Amino acid sequence: MARVFSGVQPTGNIHIGNYLGALRQFVELQNDNDCIYCVVDMHSITVPQNPKELRQHILDVAALYMAIGLDPEKAILFVQSDVPGHAELSWILTCSSYTGELSRMTQFKEKSRNNESAGMGLFSYPILMAADILLYDTEIVPVGNDQKQHIELCRDIAIRVNNRFENTFVVPEGKYMKSAARVMSLDDPTNKMSKSAENIHSRISLLDEPSKIKKSIMKATTDSEGTIRVDWDEKPGISNLITIYSAFSGIDIPDIEKKYEGCGYGDFKKDLVDVTVEALTPIQERYAEIRKSEELKTALKEGAEKANAIAVPILRRVKKKFGLGVKK
Ligand code: AMP
Ligand code: TRP
Repeated sequence: MARVFSGVQPTGNIHIGNYLGALRQFVELQNDNDCIYCVVDMHSITVPQNPKELRQHILDVAALYMAIGLDPEKAILFVQSDVPGHAELSWILTCSSYTGELSRMTQFKEKSRNNESAGMGLFSYPILMAADILLYDTEIVPVGNDQKQHIELCRDIAIRVNNRFENTFVVPEGKYMKSAARVMSLDDPTNKMSKSAENIHSRISLLDEPSKIKKSIMKATTDSEGTIRVDWDEKPGISNLITIYSAFSGIDIPDIEKKYEGCGYGDFKKDLVDVTVEALTPIQERYAEIRKSEELKTALKEGAEKANAIAVPILRRVKKKFGLGVKK
């Protein structure tokens, strides 16, 4: 039994990249591990949010967690800002981090490019993420490949503090999917699928209707060669679509390539629409039920209590190591 922690931002549009790259592993891990999954609302306010919408998005993501199969009896599900230790530990870690290492984070560089007034929250975002992880003595962090740099930073900070004060933190490991760890955008397969891209056909959201899924897939960028095979350098578009097909159907990539030998992109895309709709329909049905139930809020409240009970003694240990406070 390992302690597992991960989080997803409540920014709407949870897409198949989030699902295939990260959320899918959350479900697999919950049976044999001690799992904690969080809706990281404090991360989402690194950019301005409409308060009413944010509240709804928090519940949307929590309902999606349950709809994909996370069970509050097996895993702790909660909302980050309901446990005060995240913010508290984040400050302690801020004082053990360097501005140089934070300014090297690619996500920050991308988000702050050409923007002199990029927020401090965006800059220190990876420190709050490190606090999320270290607050629970986490051993394994299942995430998409795009978070690798943040996980490495978290490990560096933990090791740095341990070098000063022995045994303060457990040093966590990232866990990345072997396949579909990085789902690419449908309209520009050289970029990752993103919640915030302007073109809604660049992504498939978990709650998209079949007609929207069809439109997005049929419009997806491919190439002029016309053969269905994976070649990320020359054919990133079709490679991405084949990877999505494989992830949803459970069929290995070489078998898909064989199955579609001699077929055109149009036929393959039509089948991909079916495979995707079939995978998402049961999730959408469960989501609709859970989202309107009272059970959801009760589960989150109980989850926050359980998470807090784990966090409090760990935070006490950390504060003692740093010599903070007088309360025992
Ligand atoms: P976020 O929406 O940024 O909170 O991401 C939630 C999870 O989804 C994280 O573990 C990310 O690494 C993962 N993720 C986000 N975008 C993608 C993508 N295009 N492909 C694979 N995983 C992704
Ligand atoms: N930064 C992650 C993302 O954008 C979300 C996140 C916040 C997270 N805290 C975390 C992921 C802790 C894993 C562990 O996807």
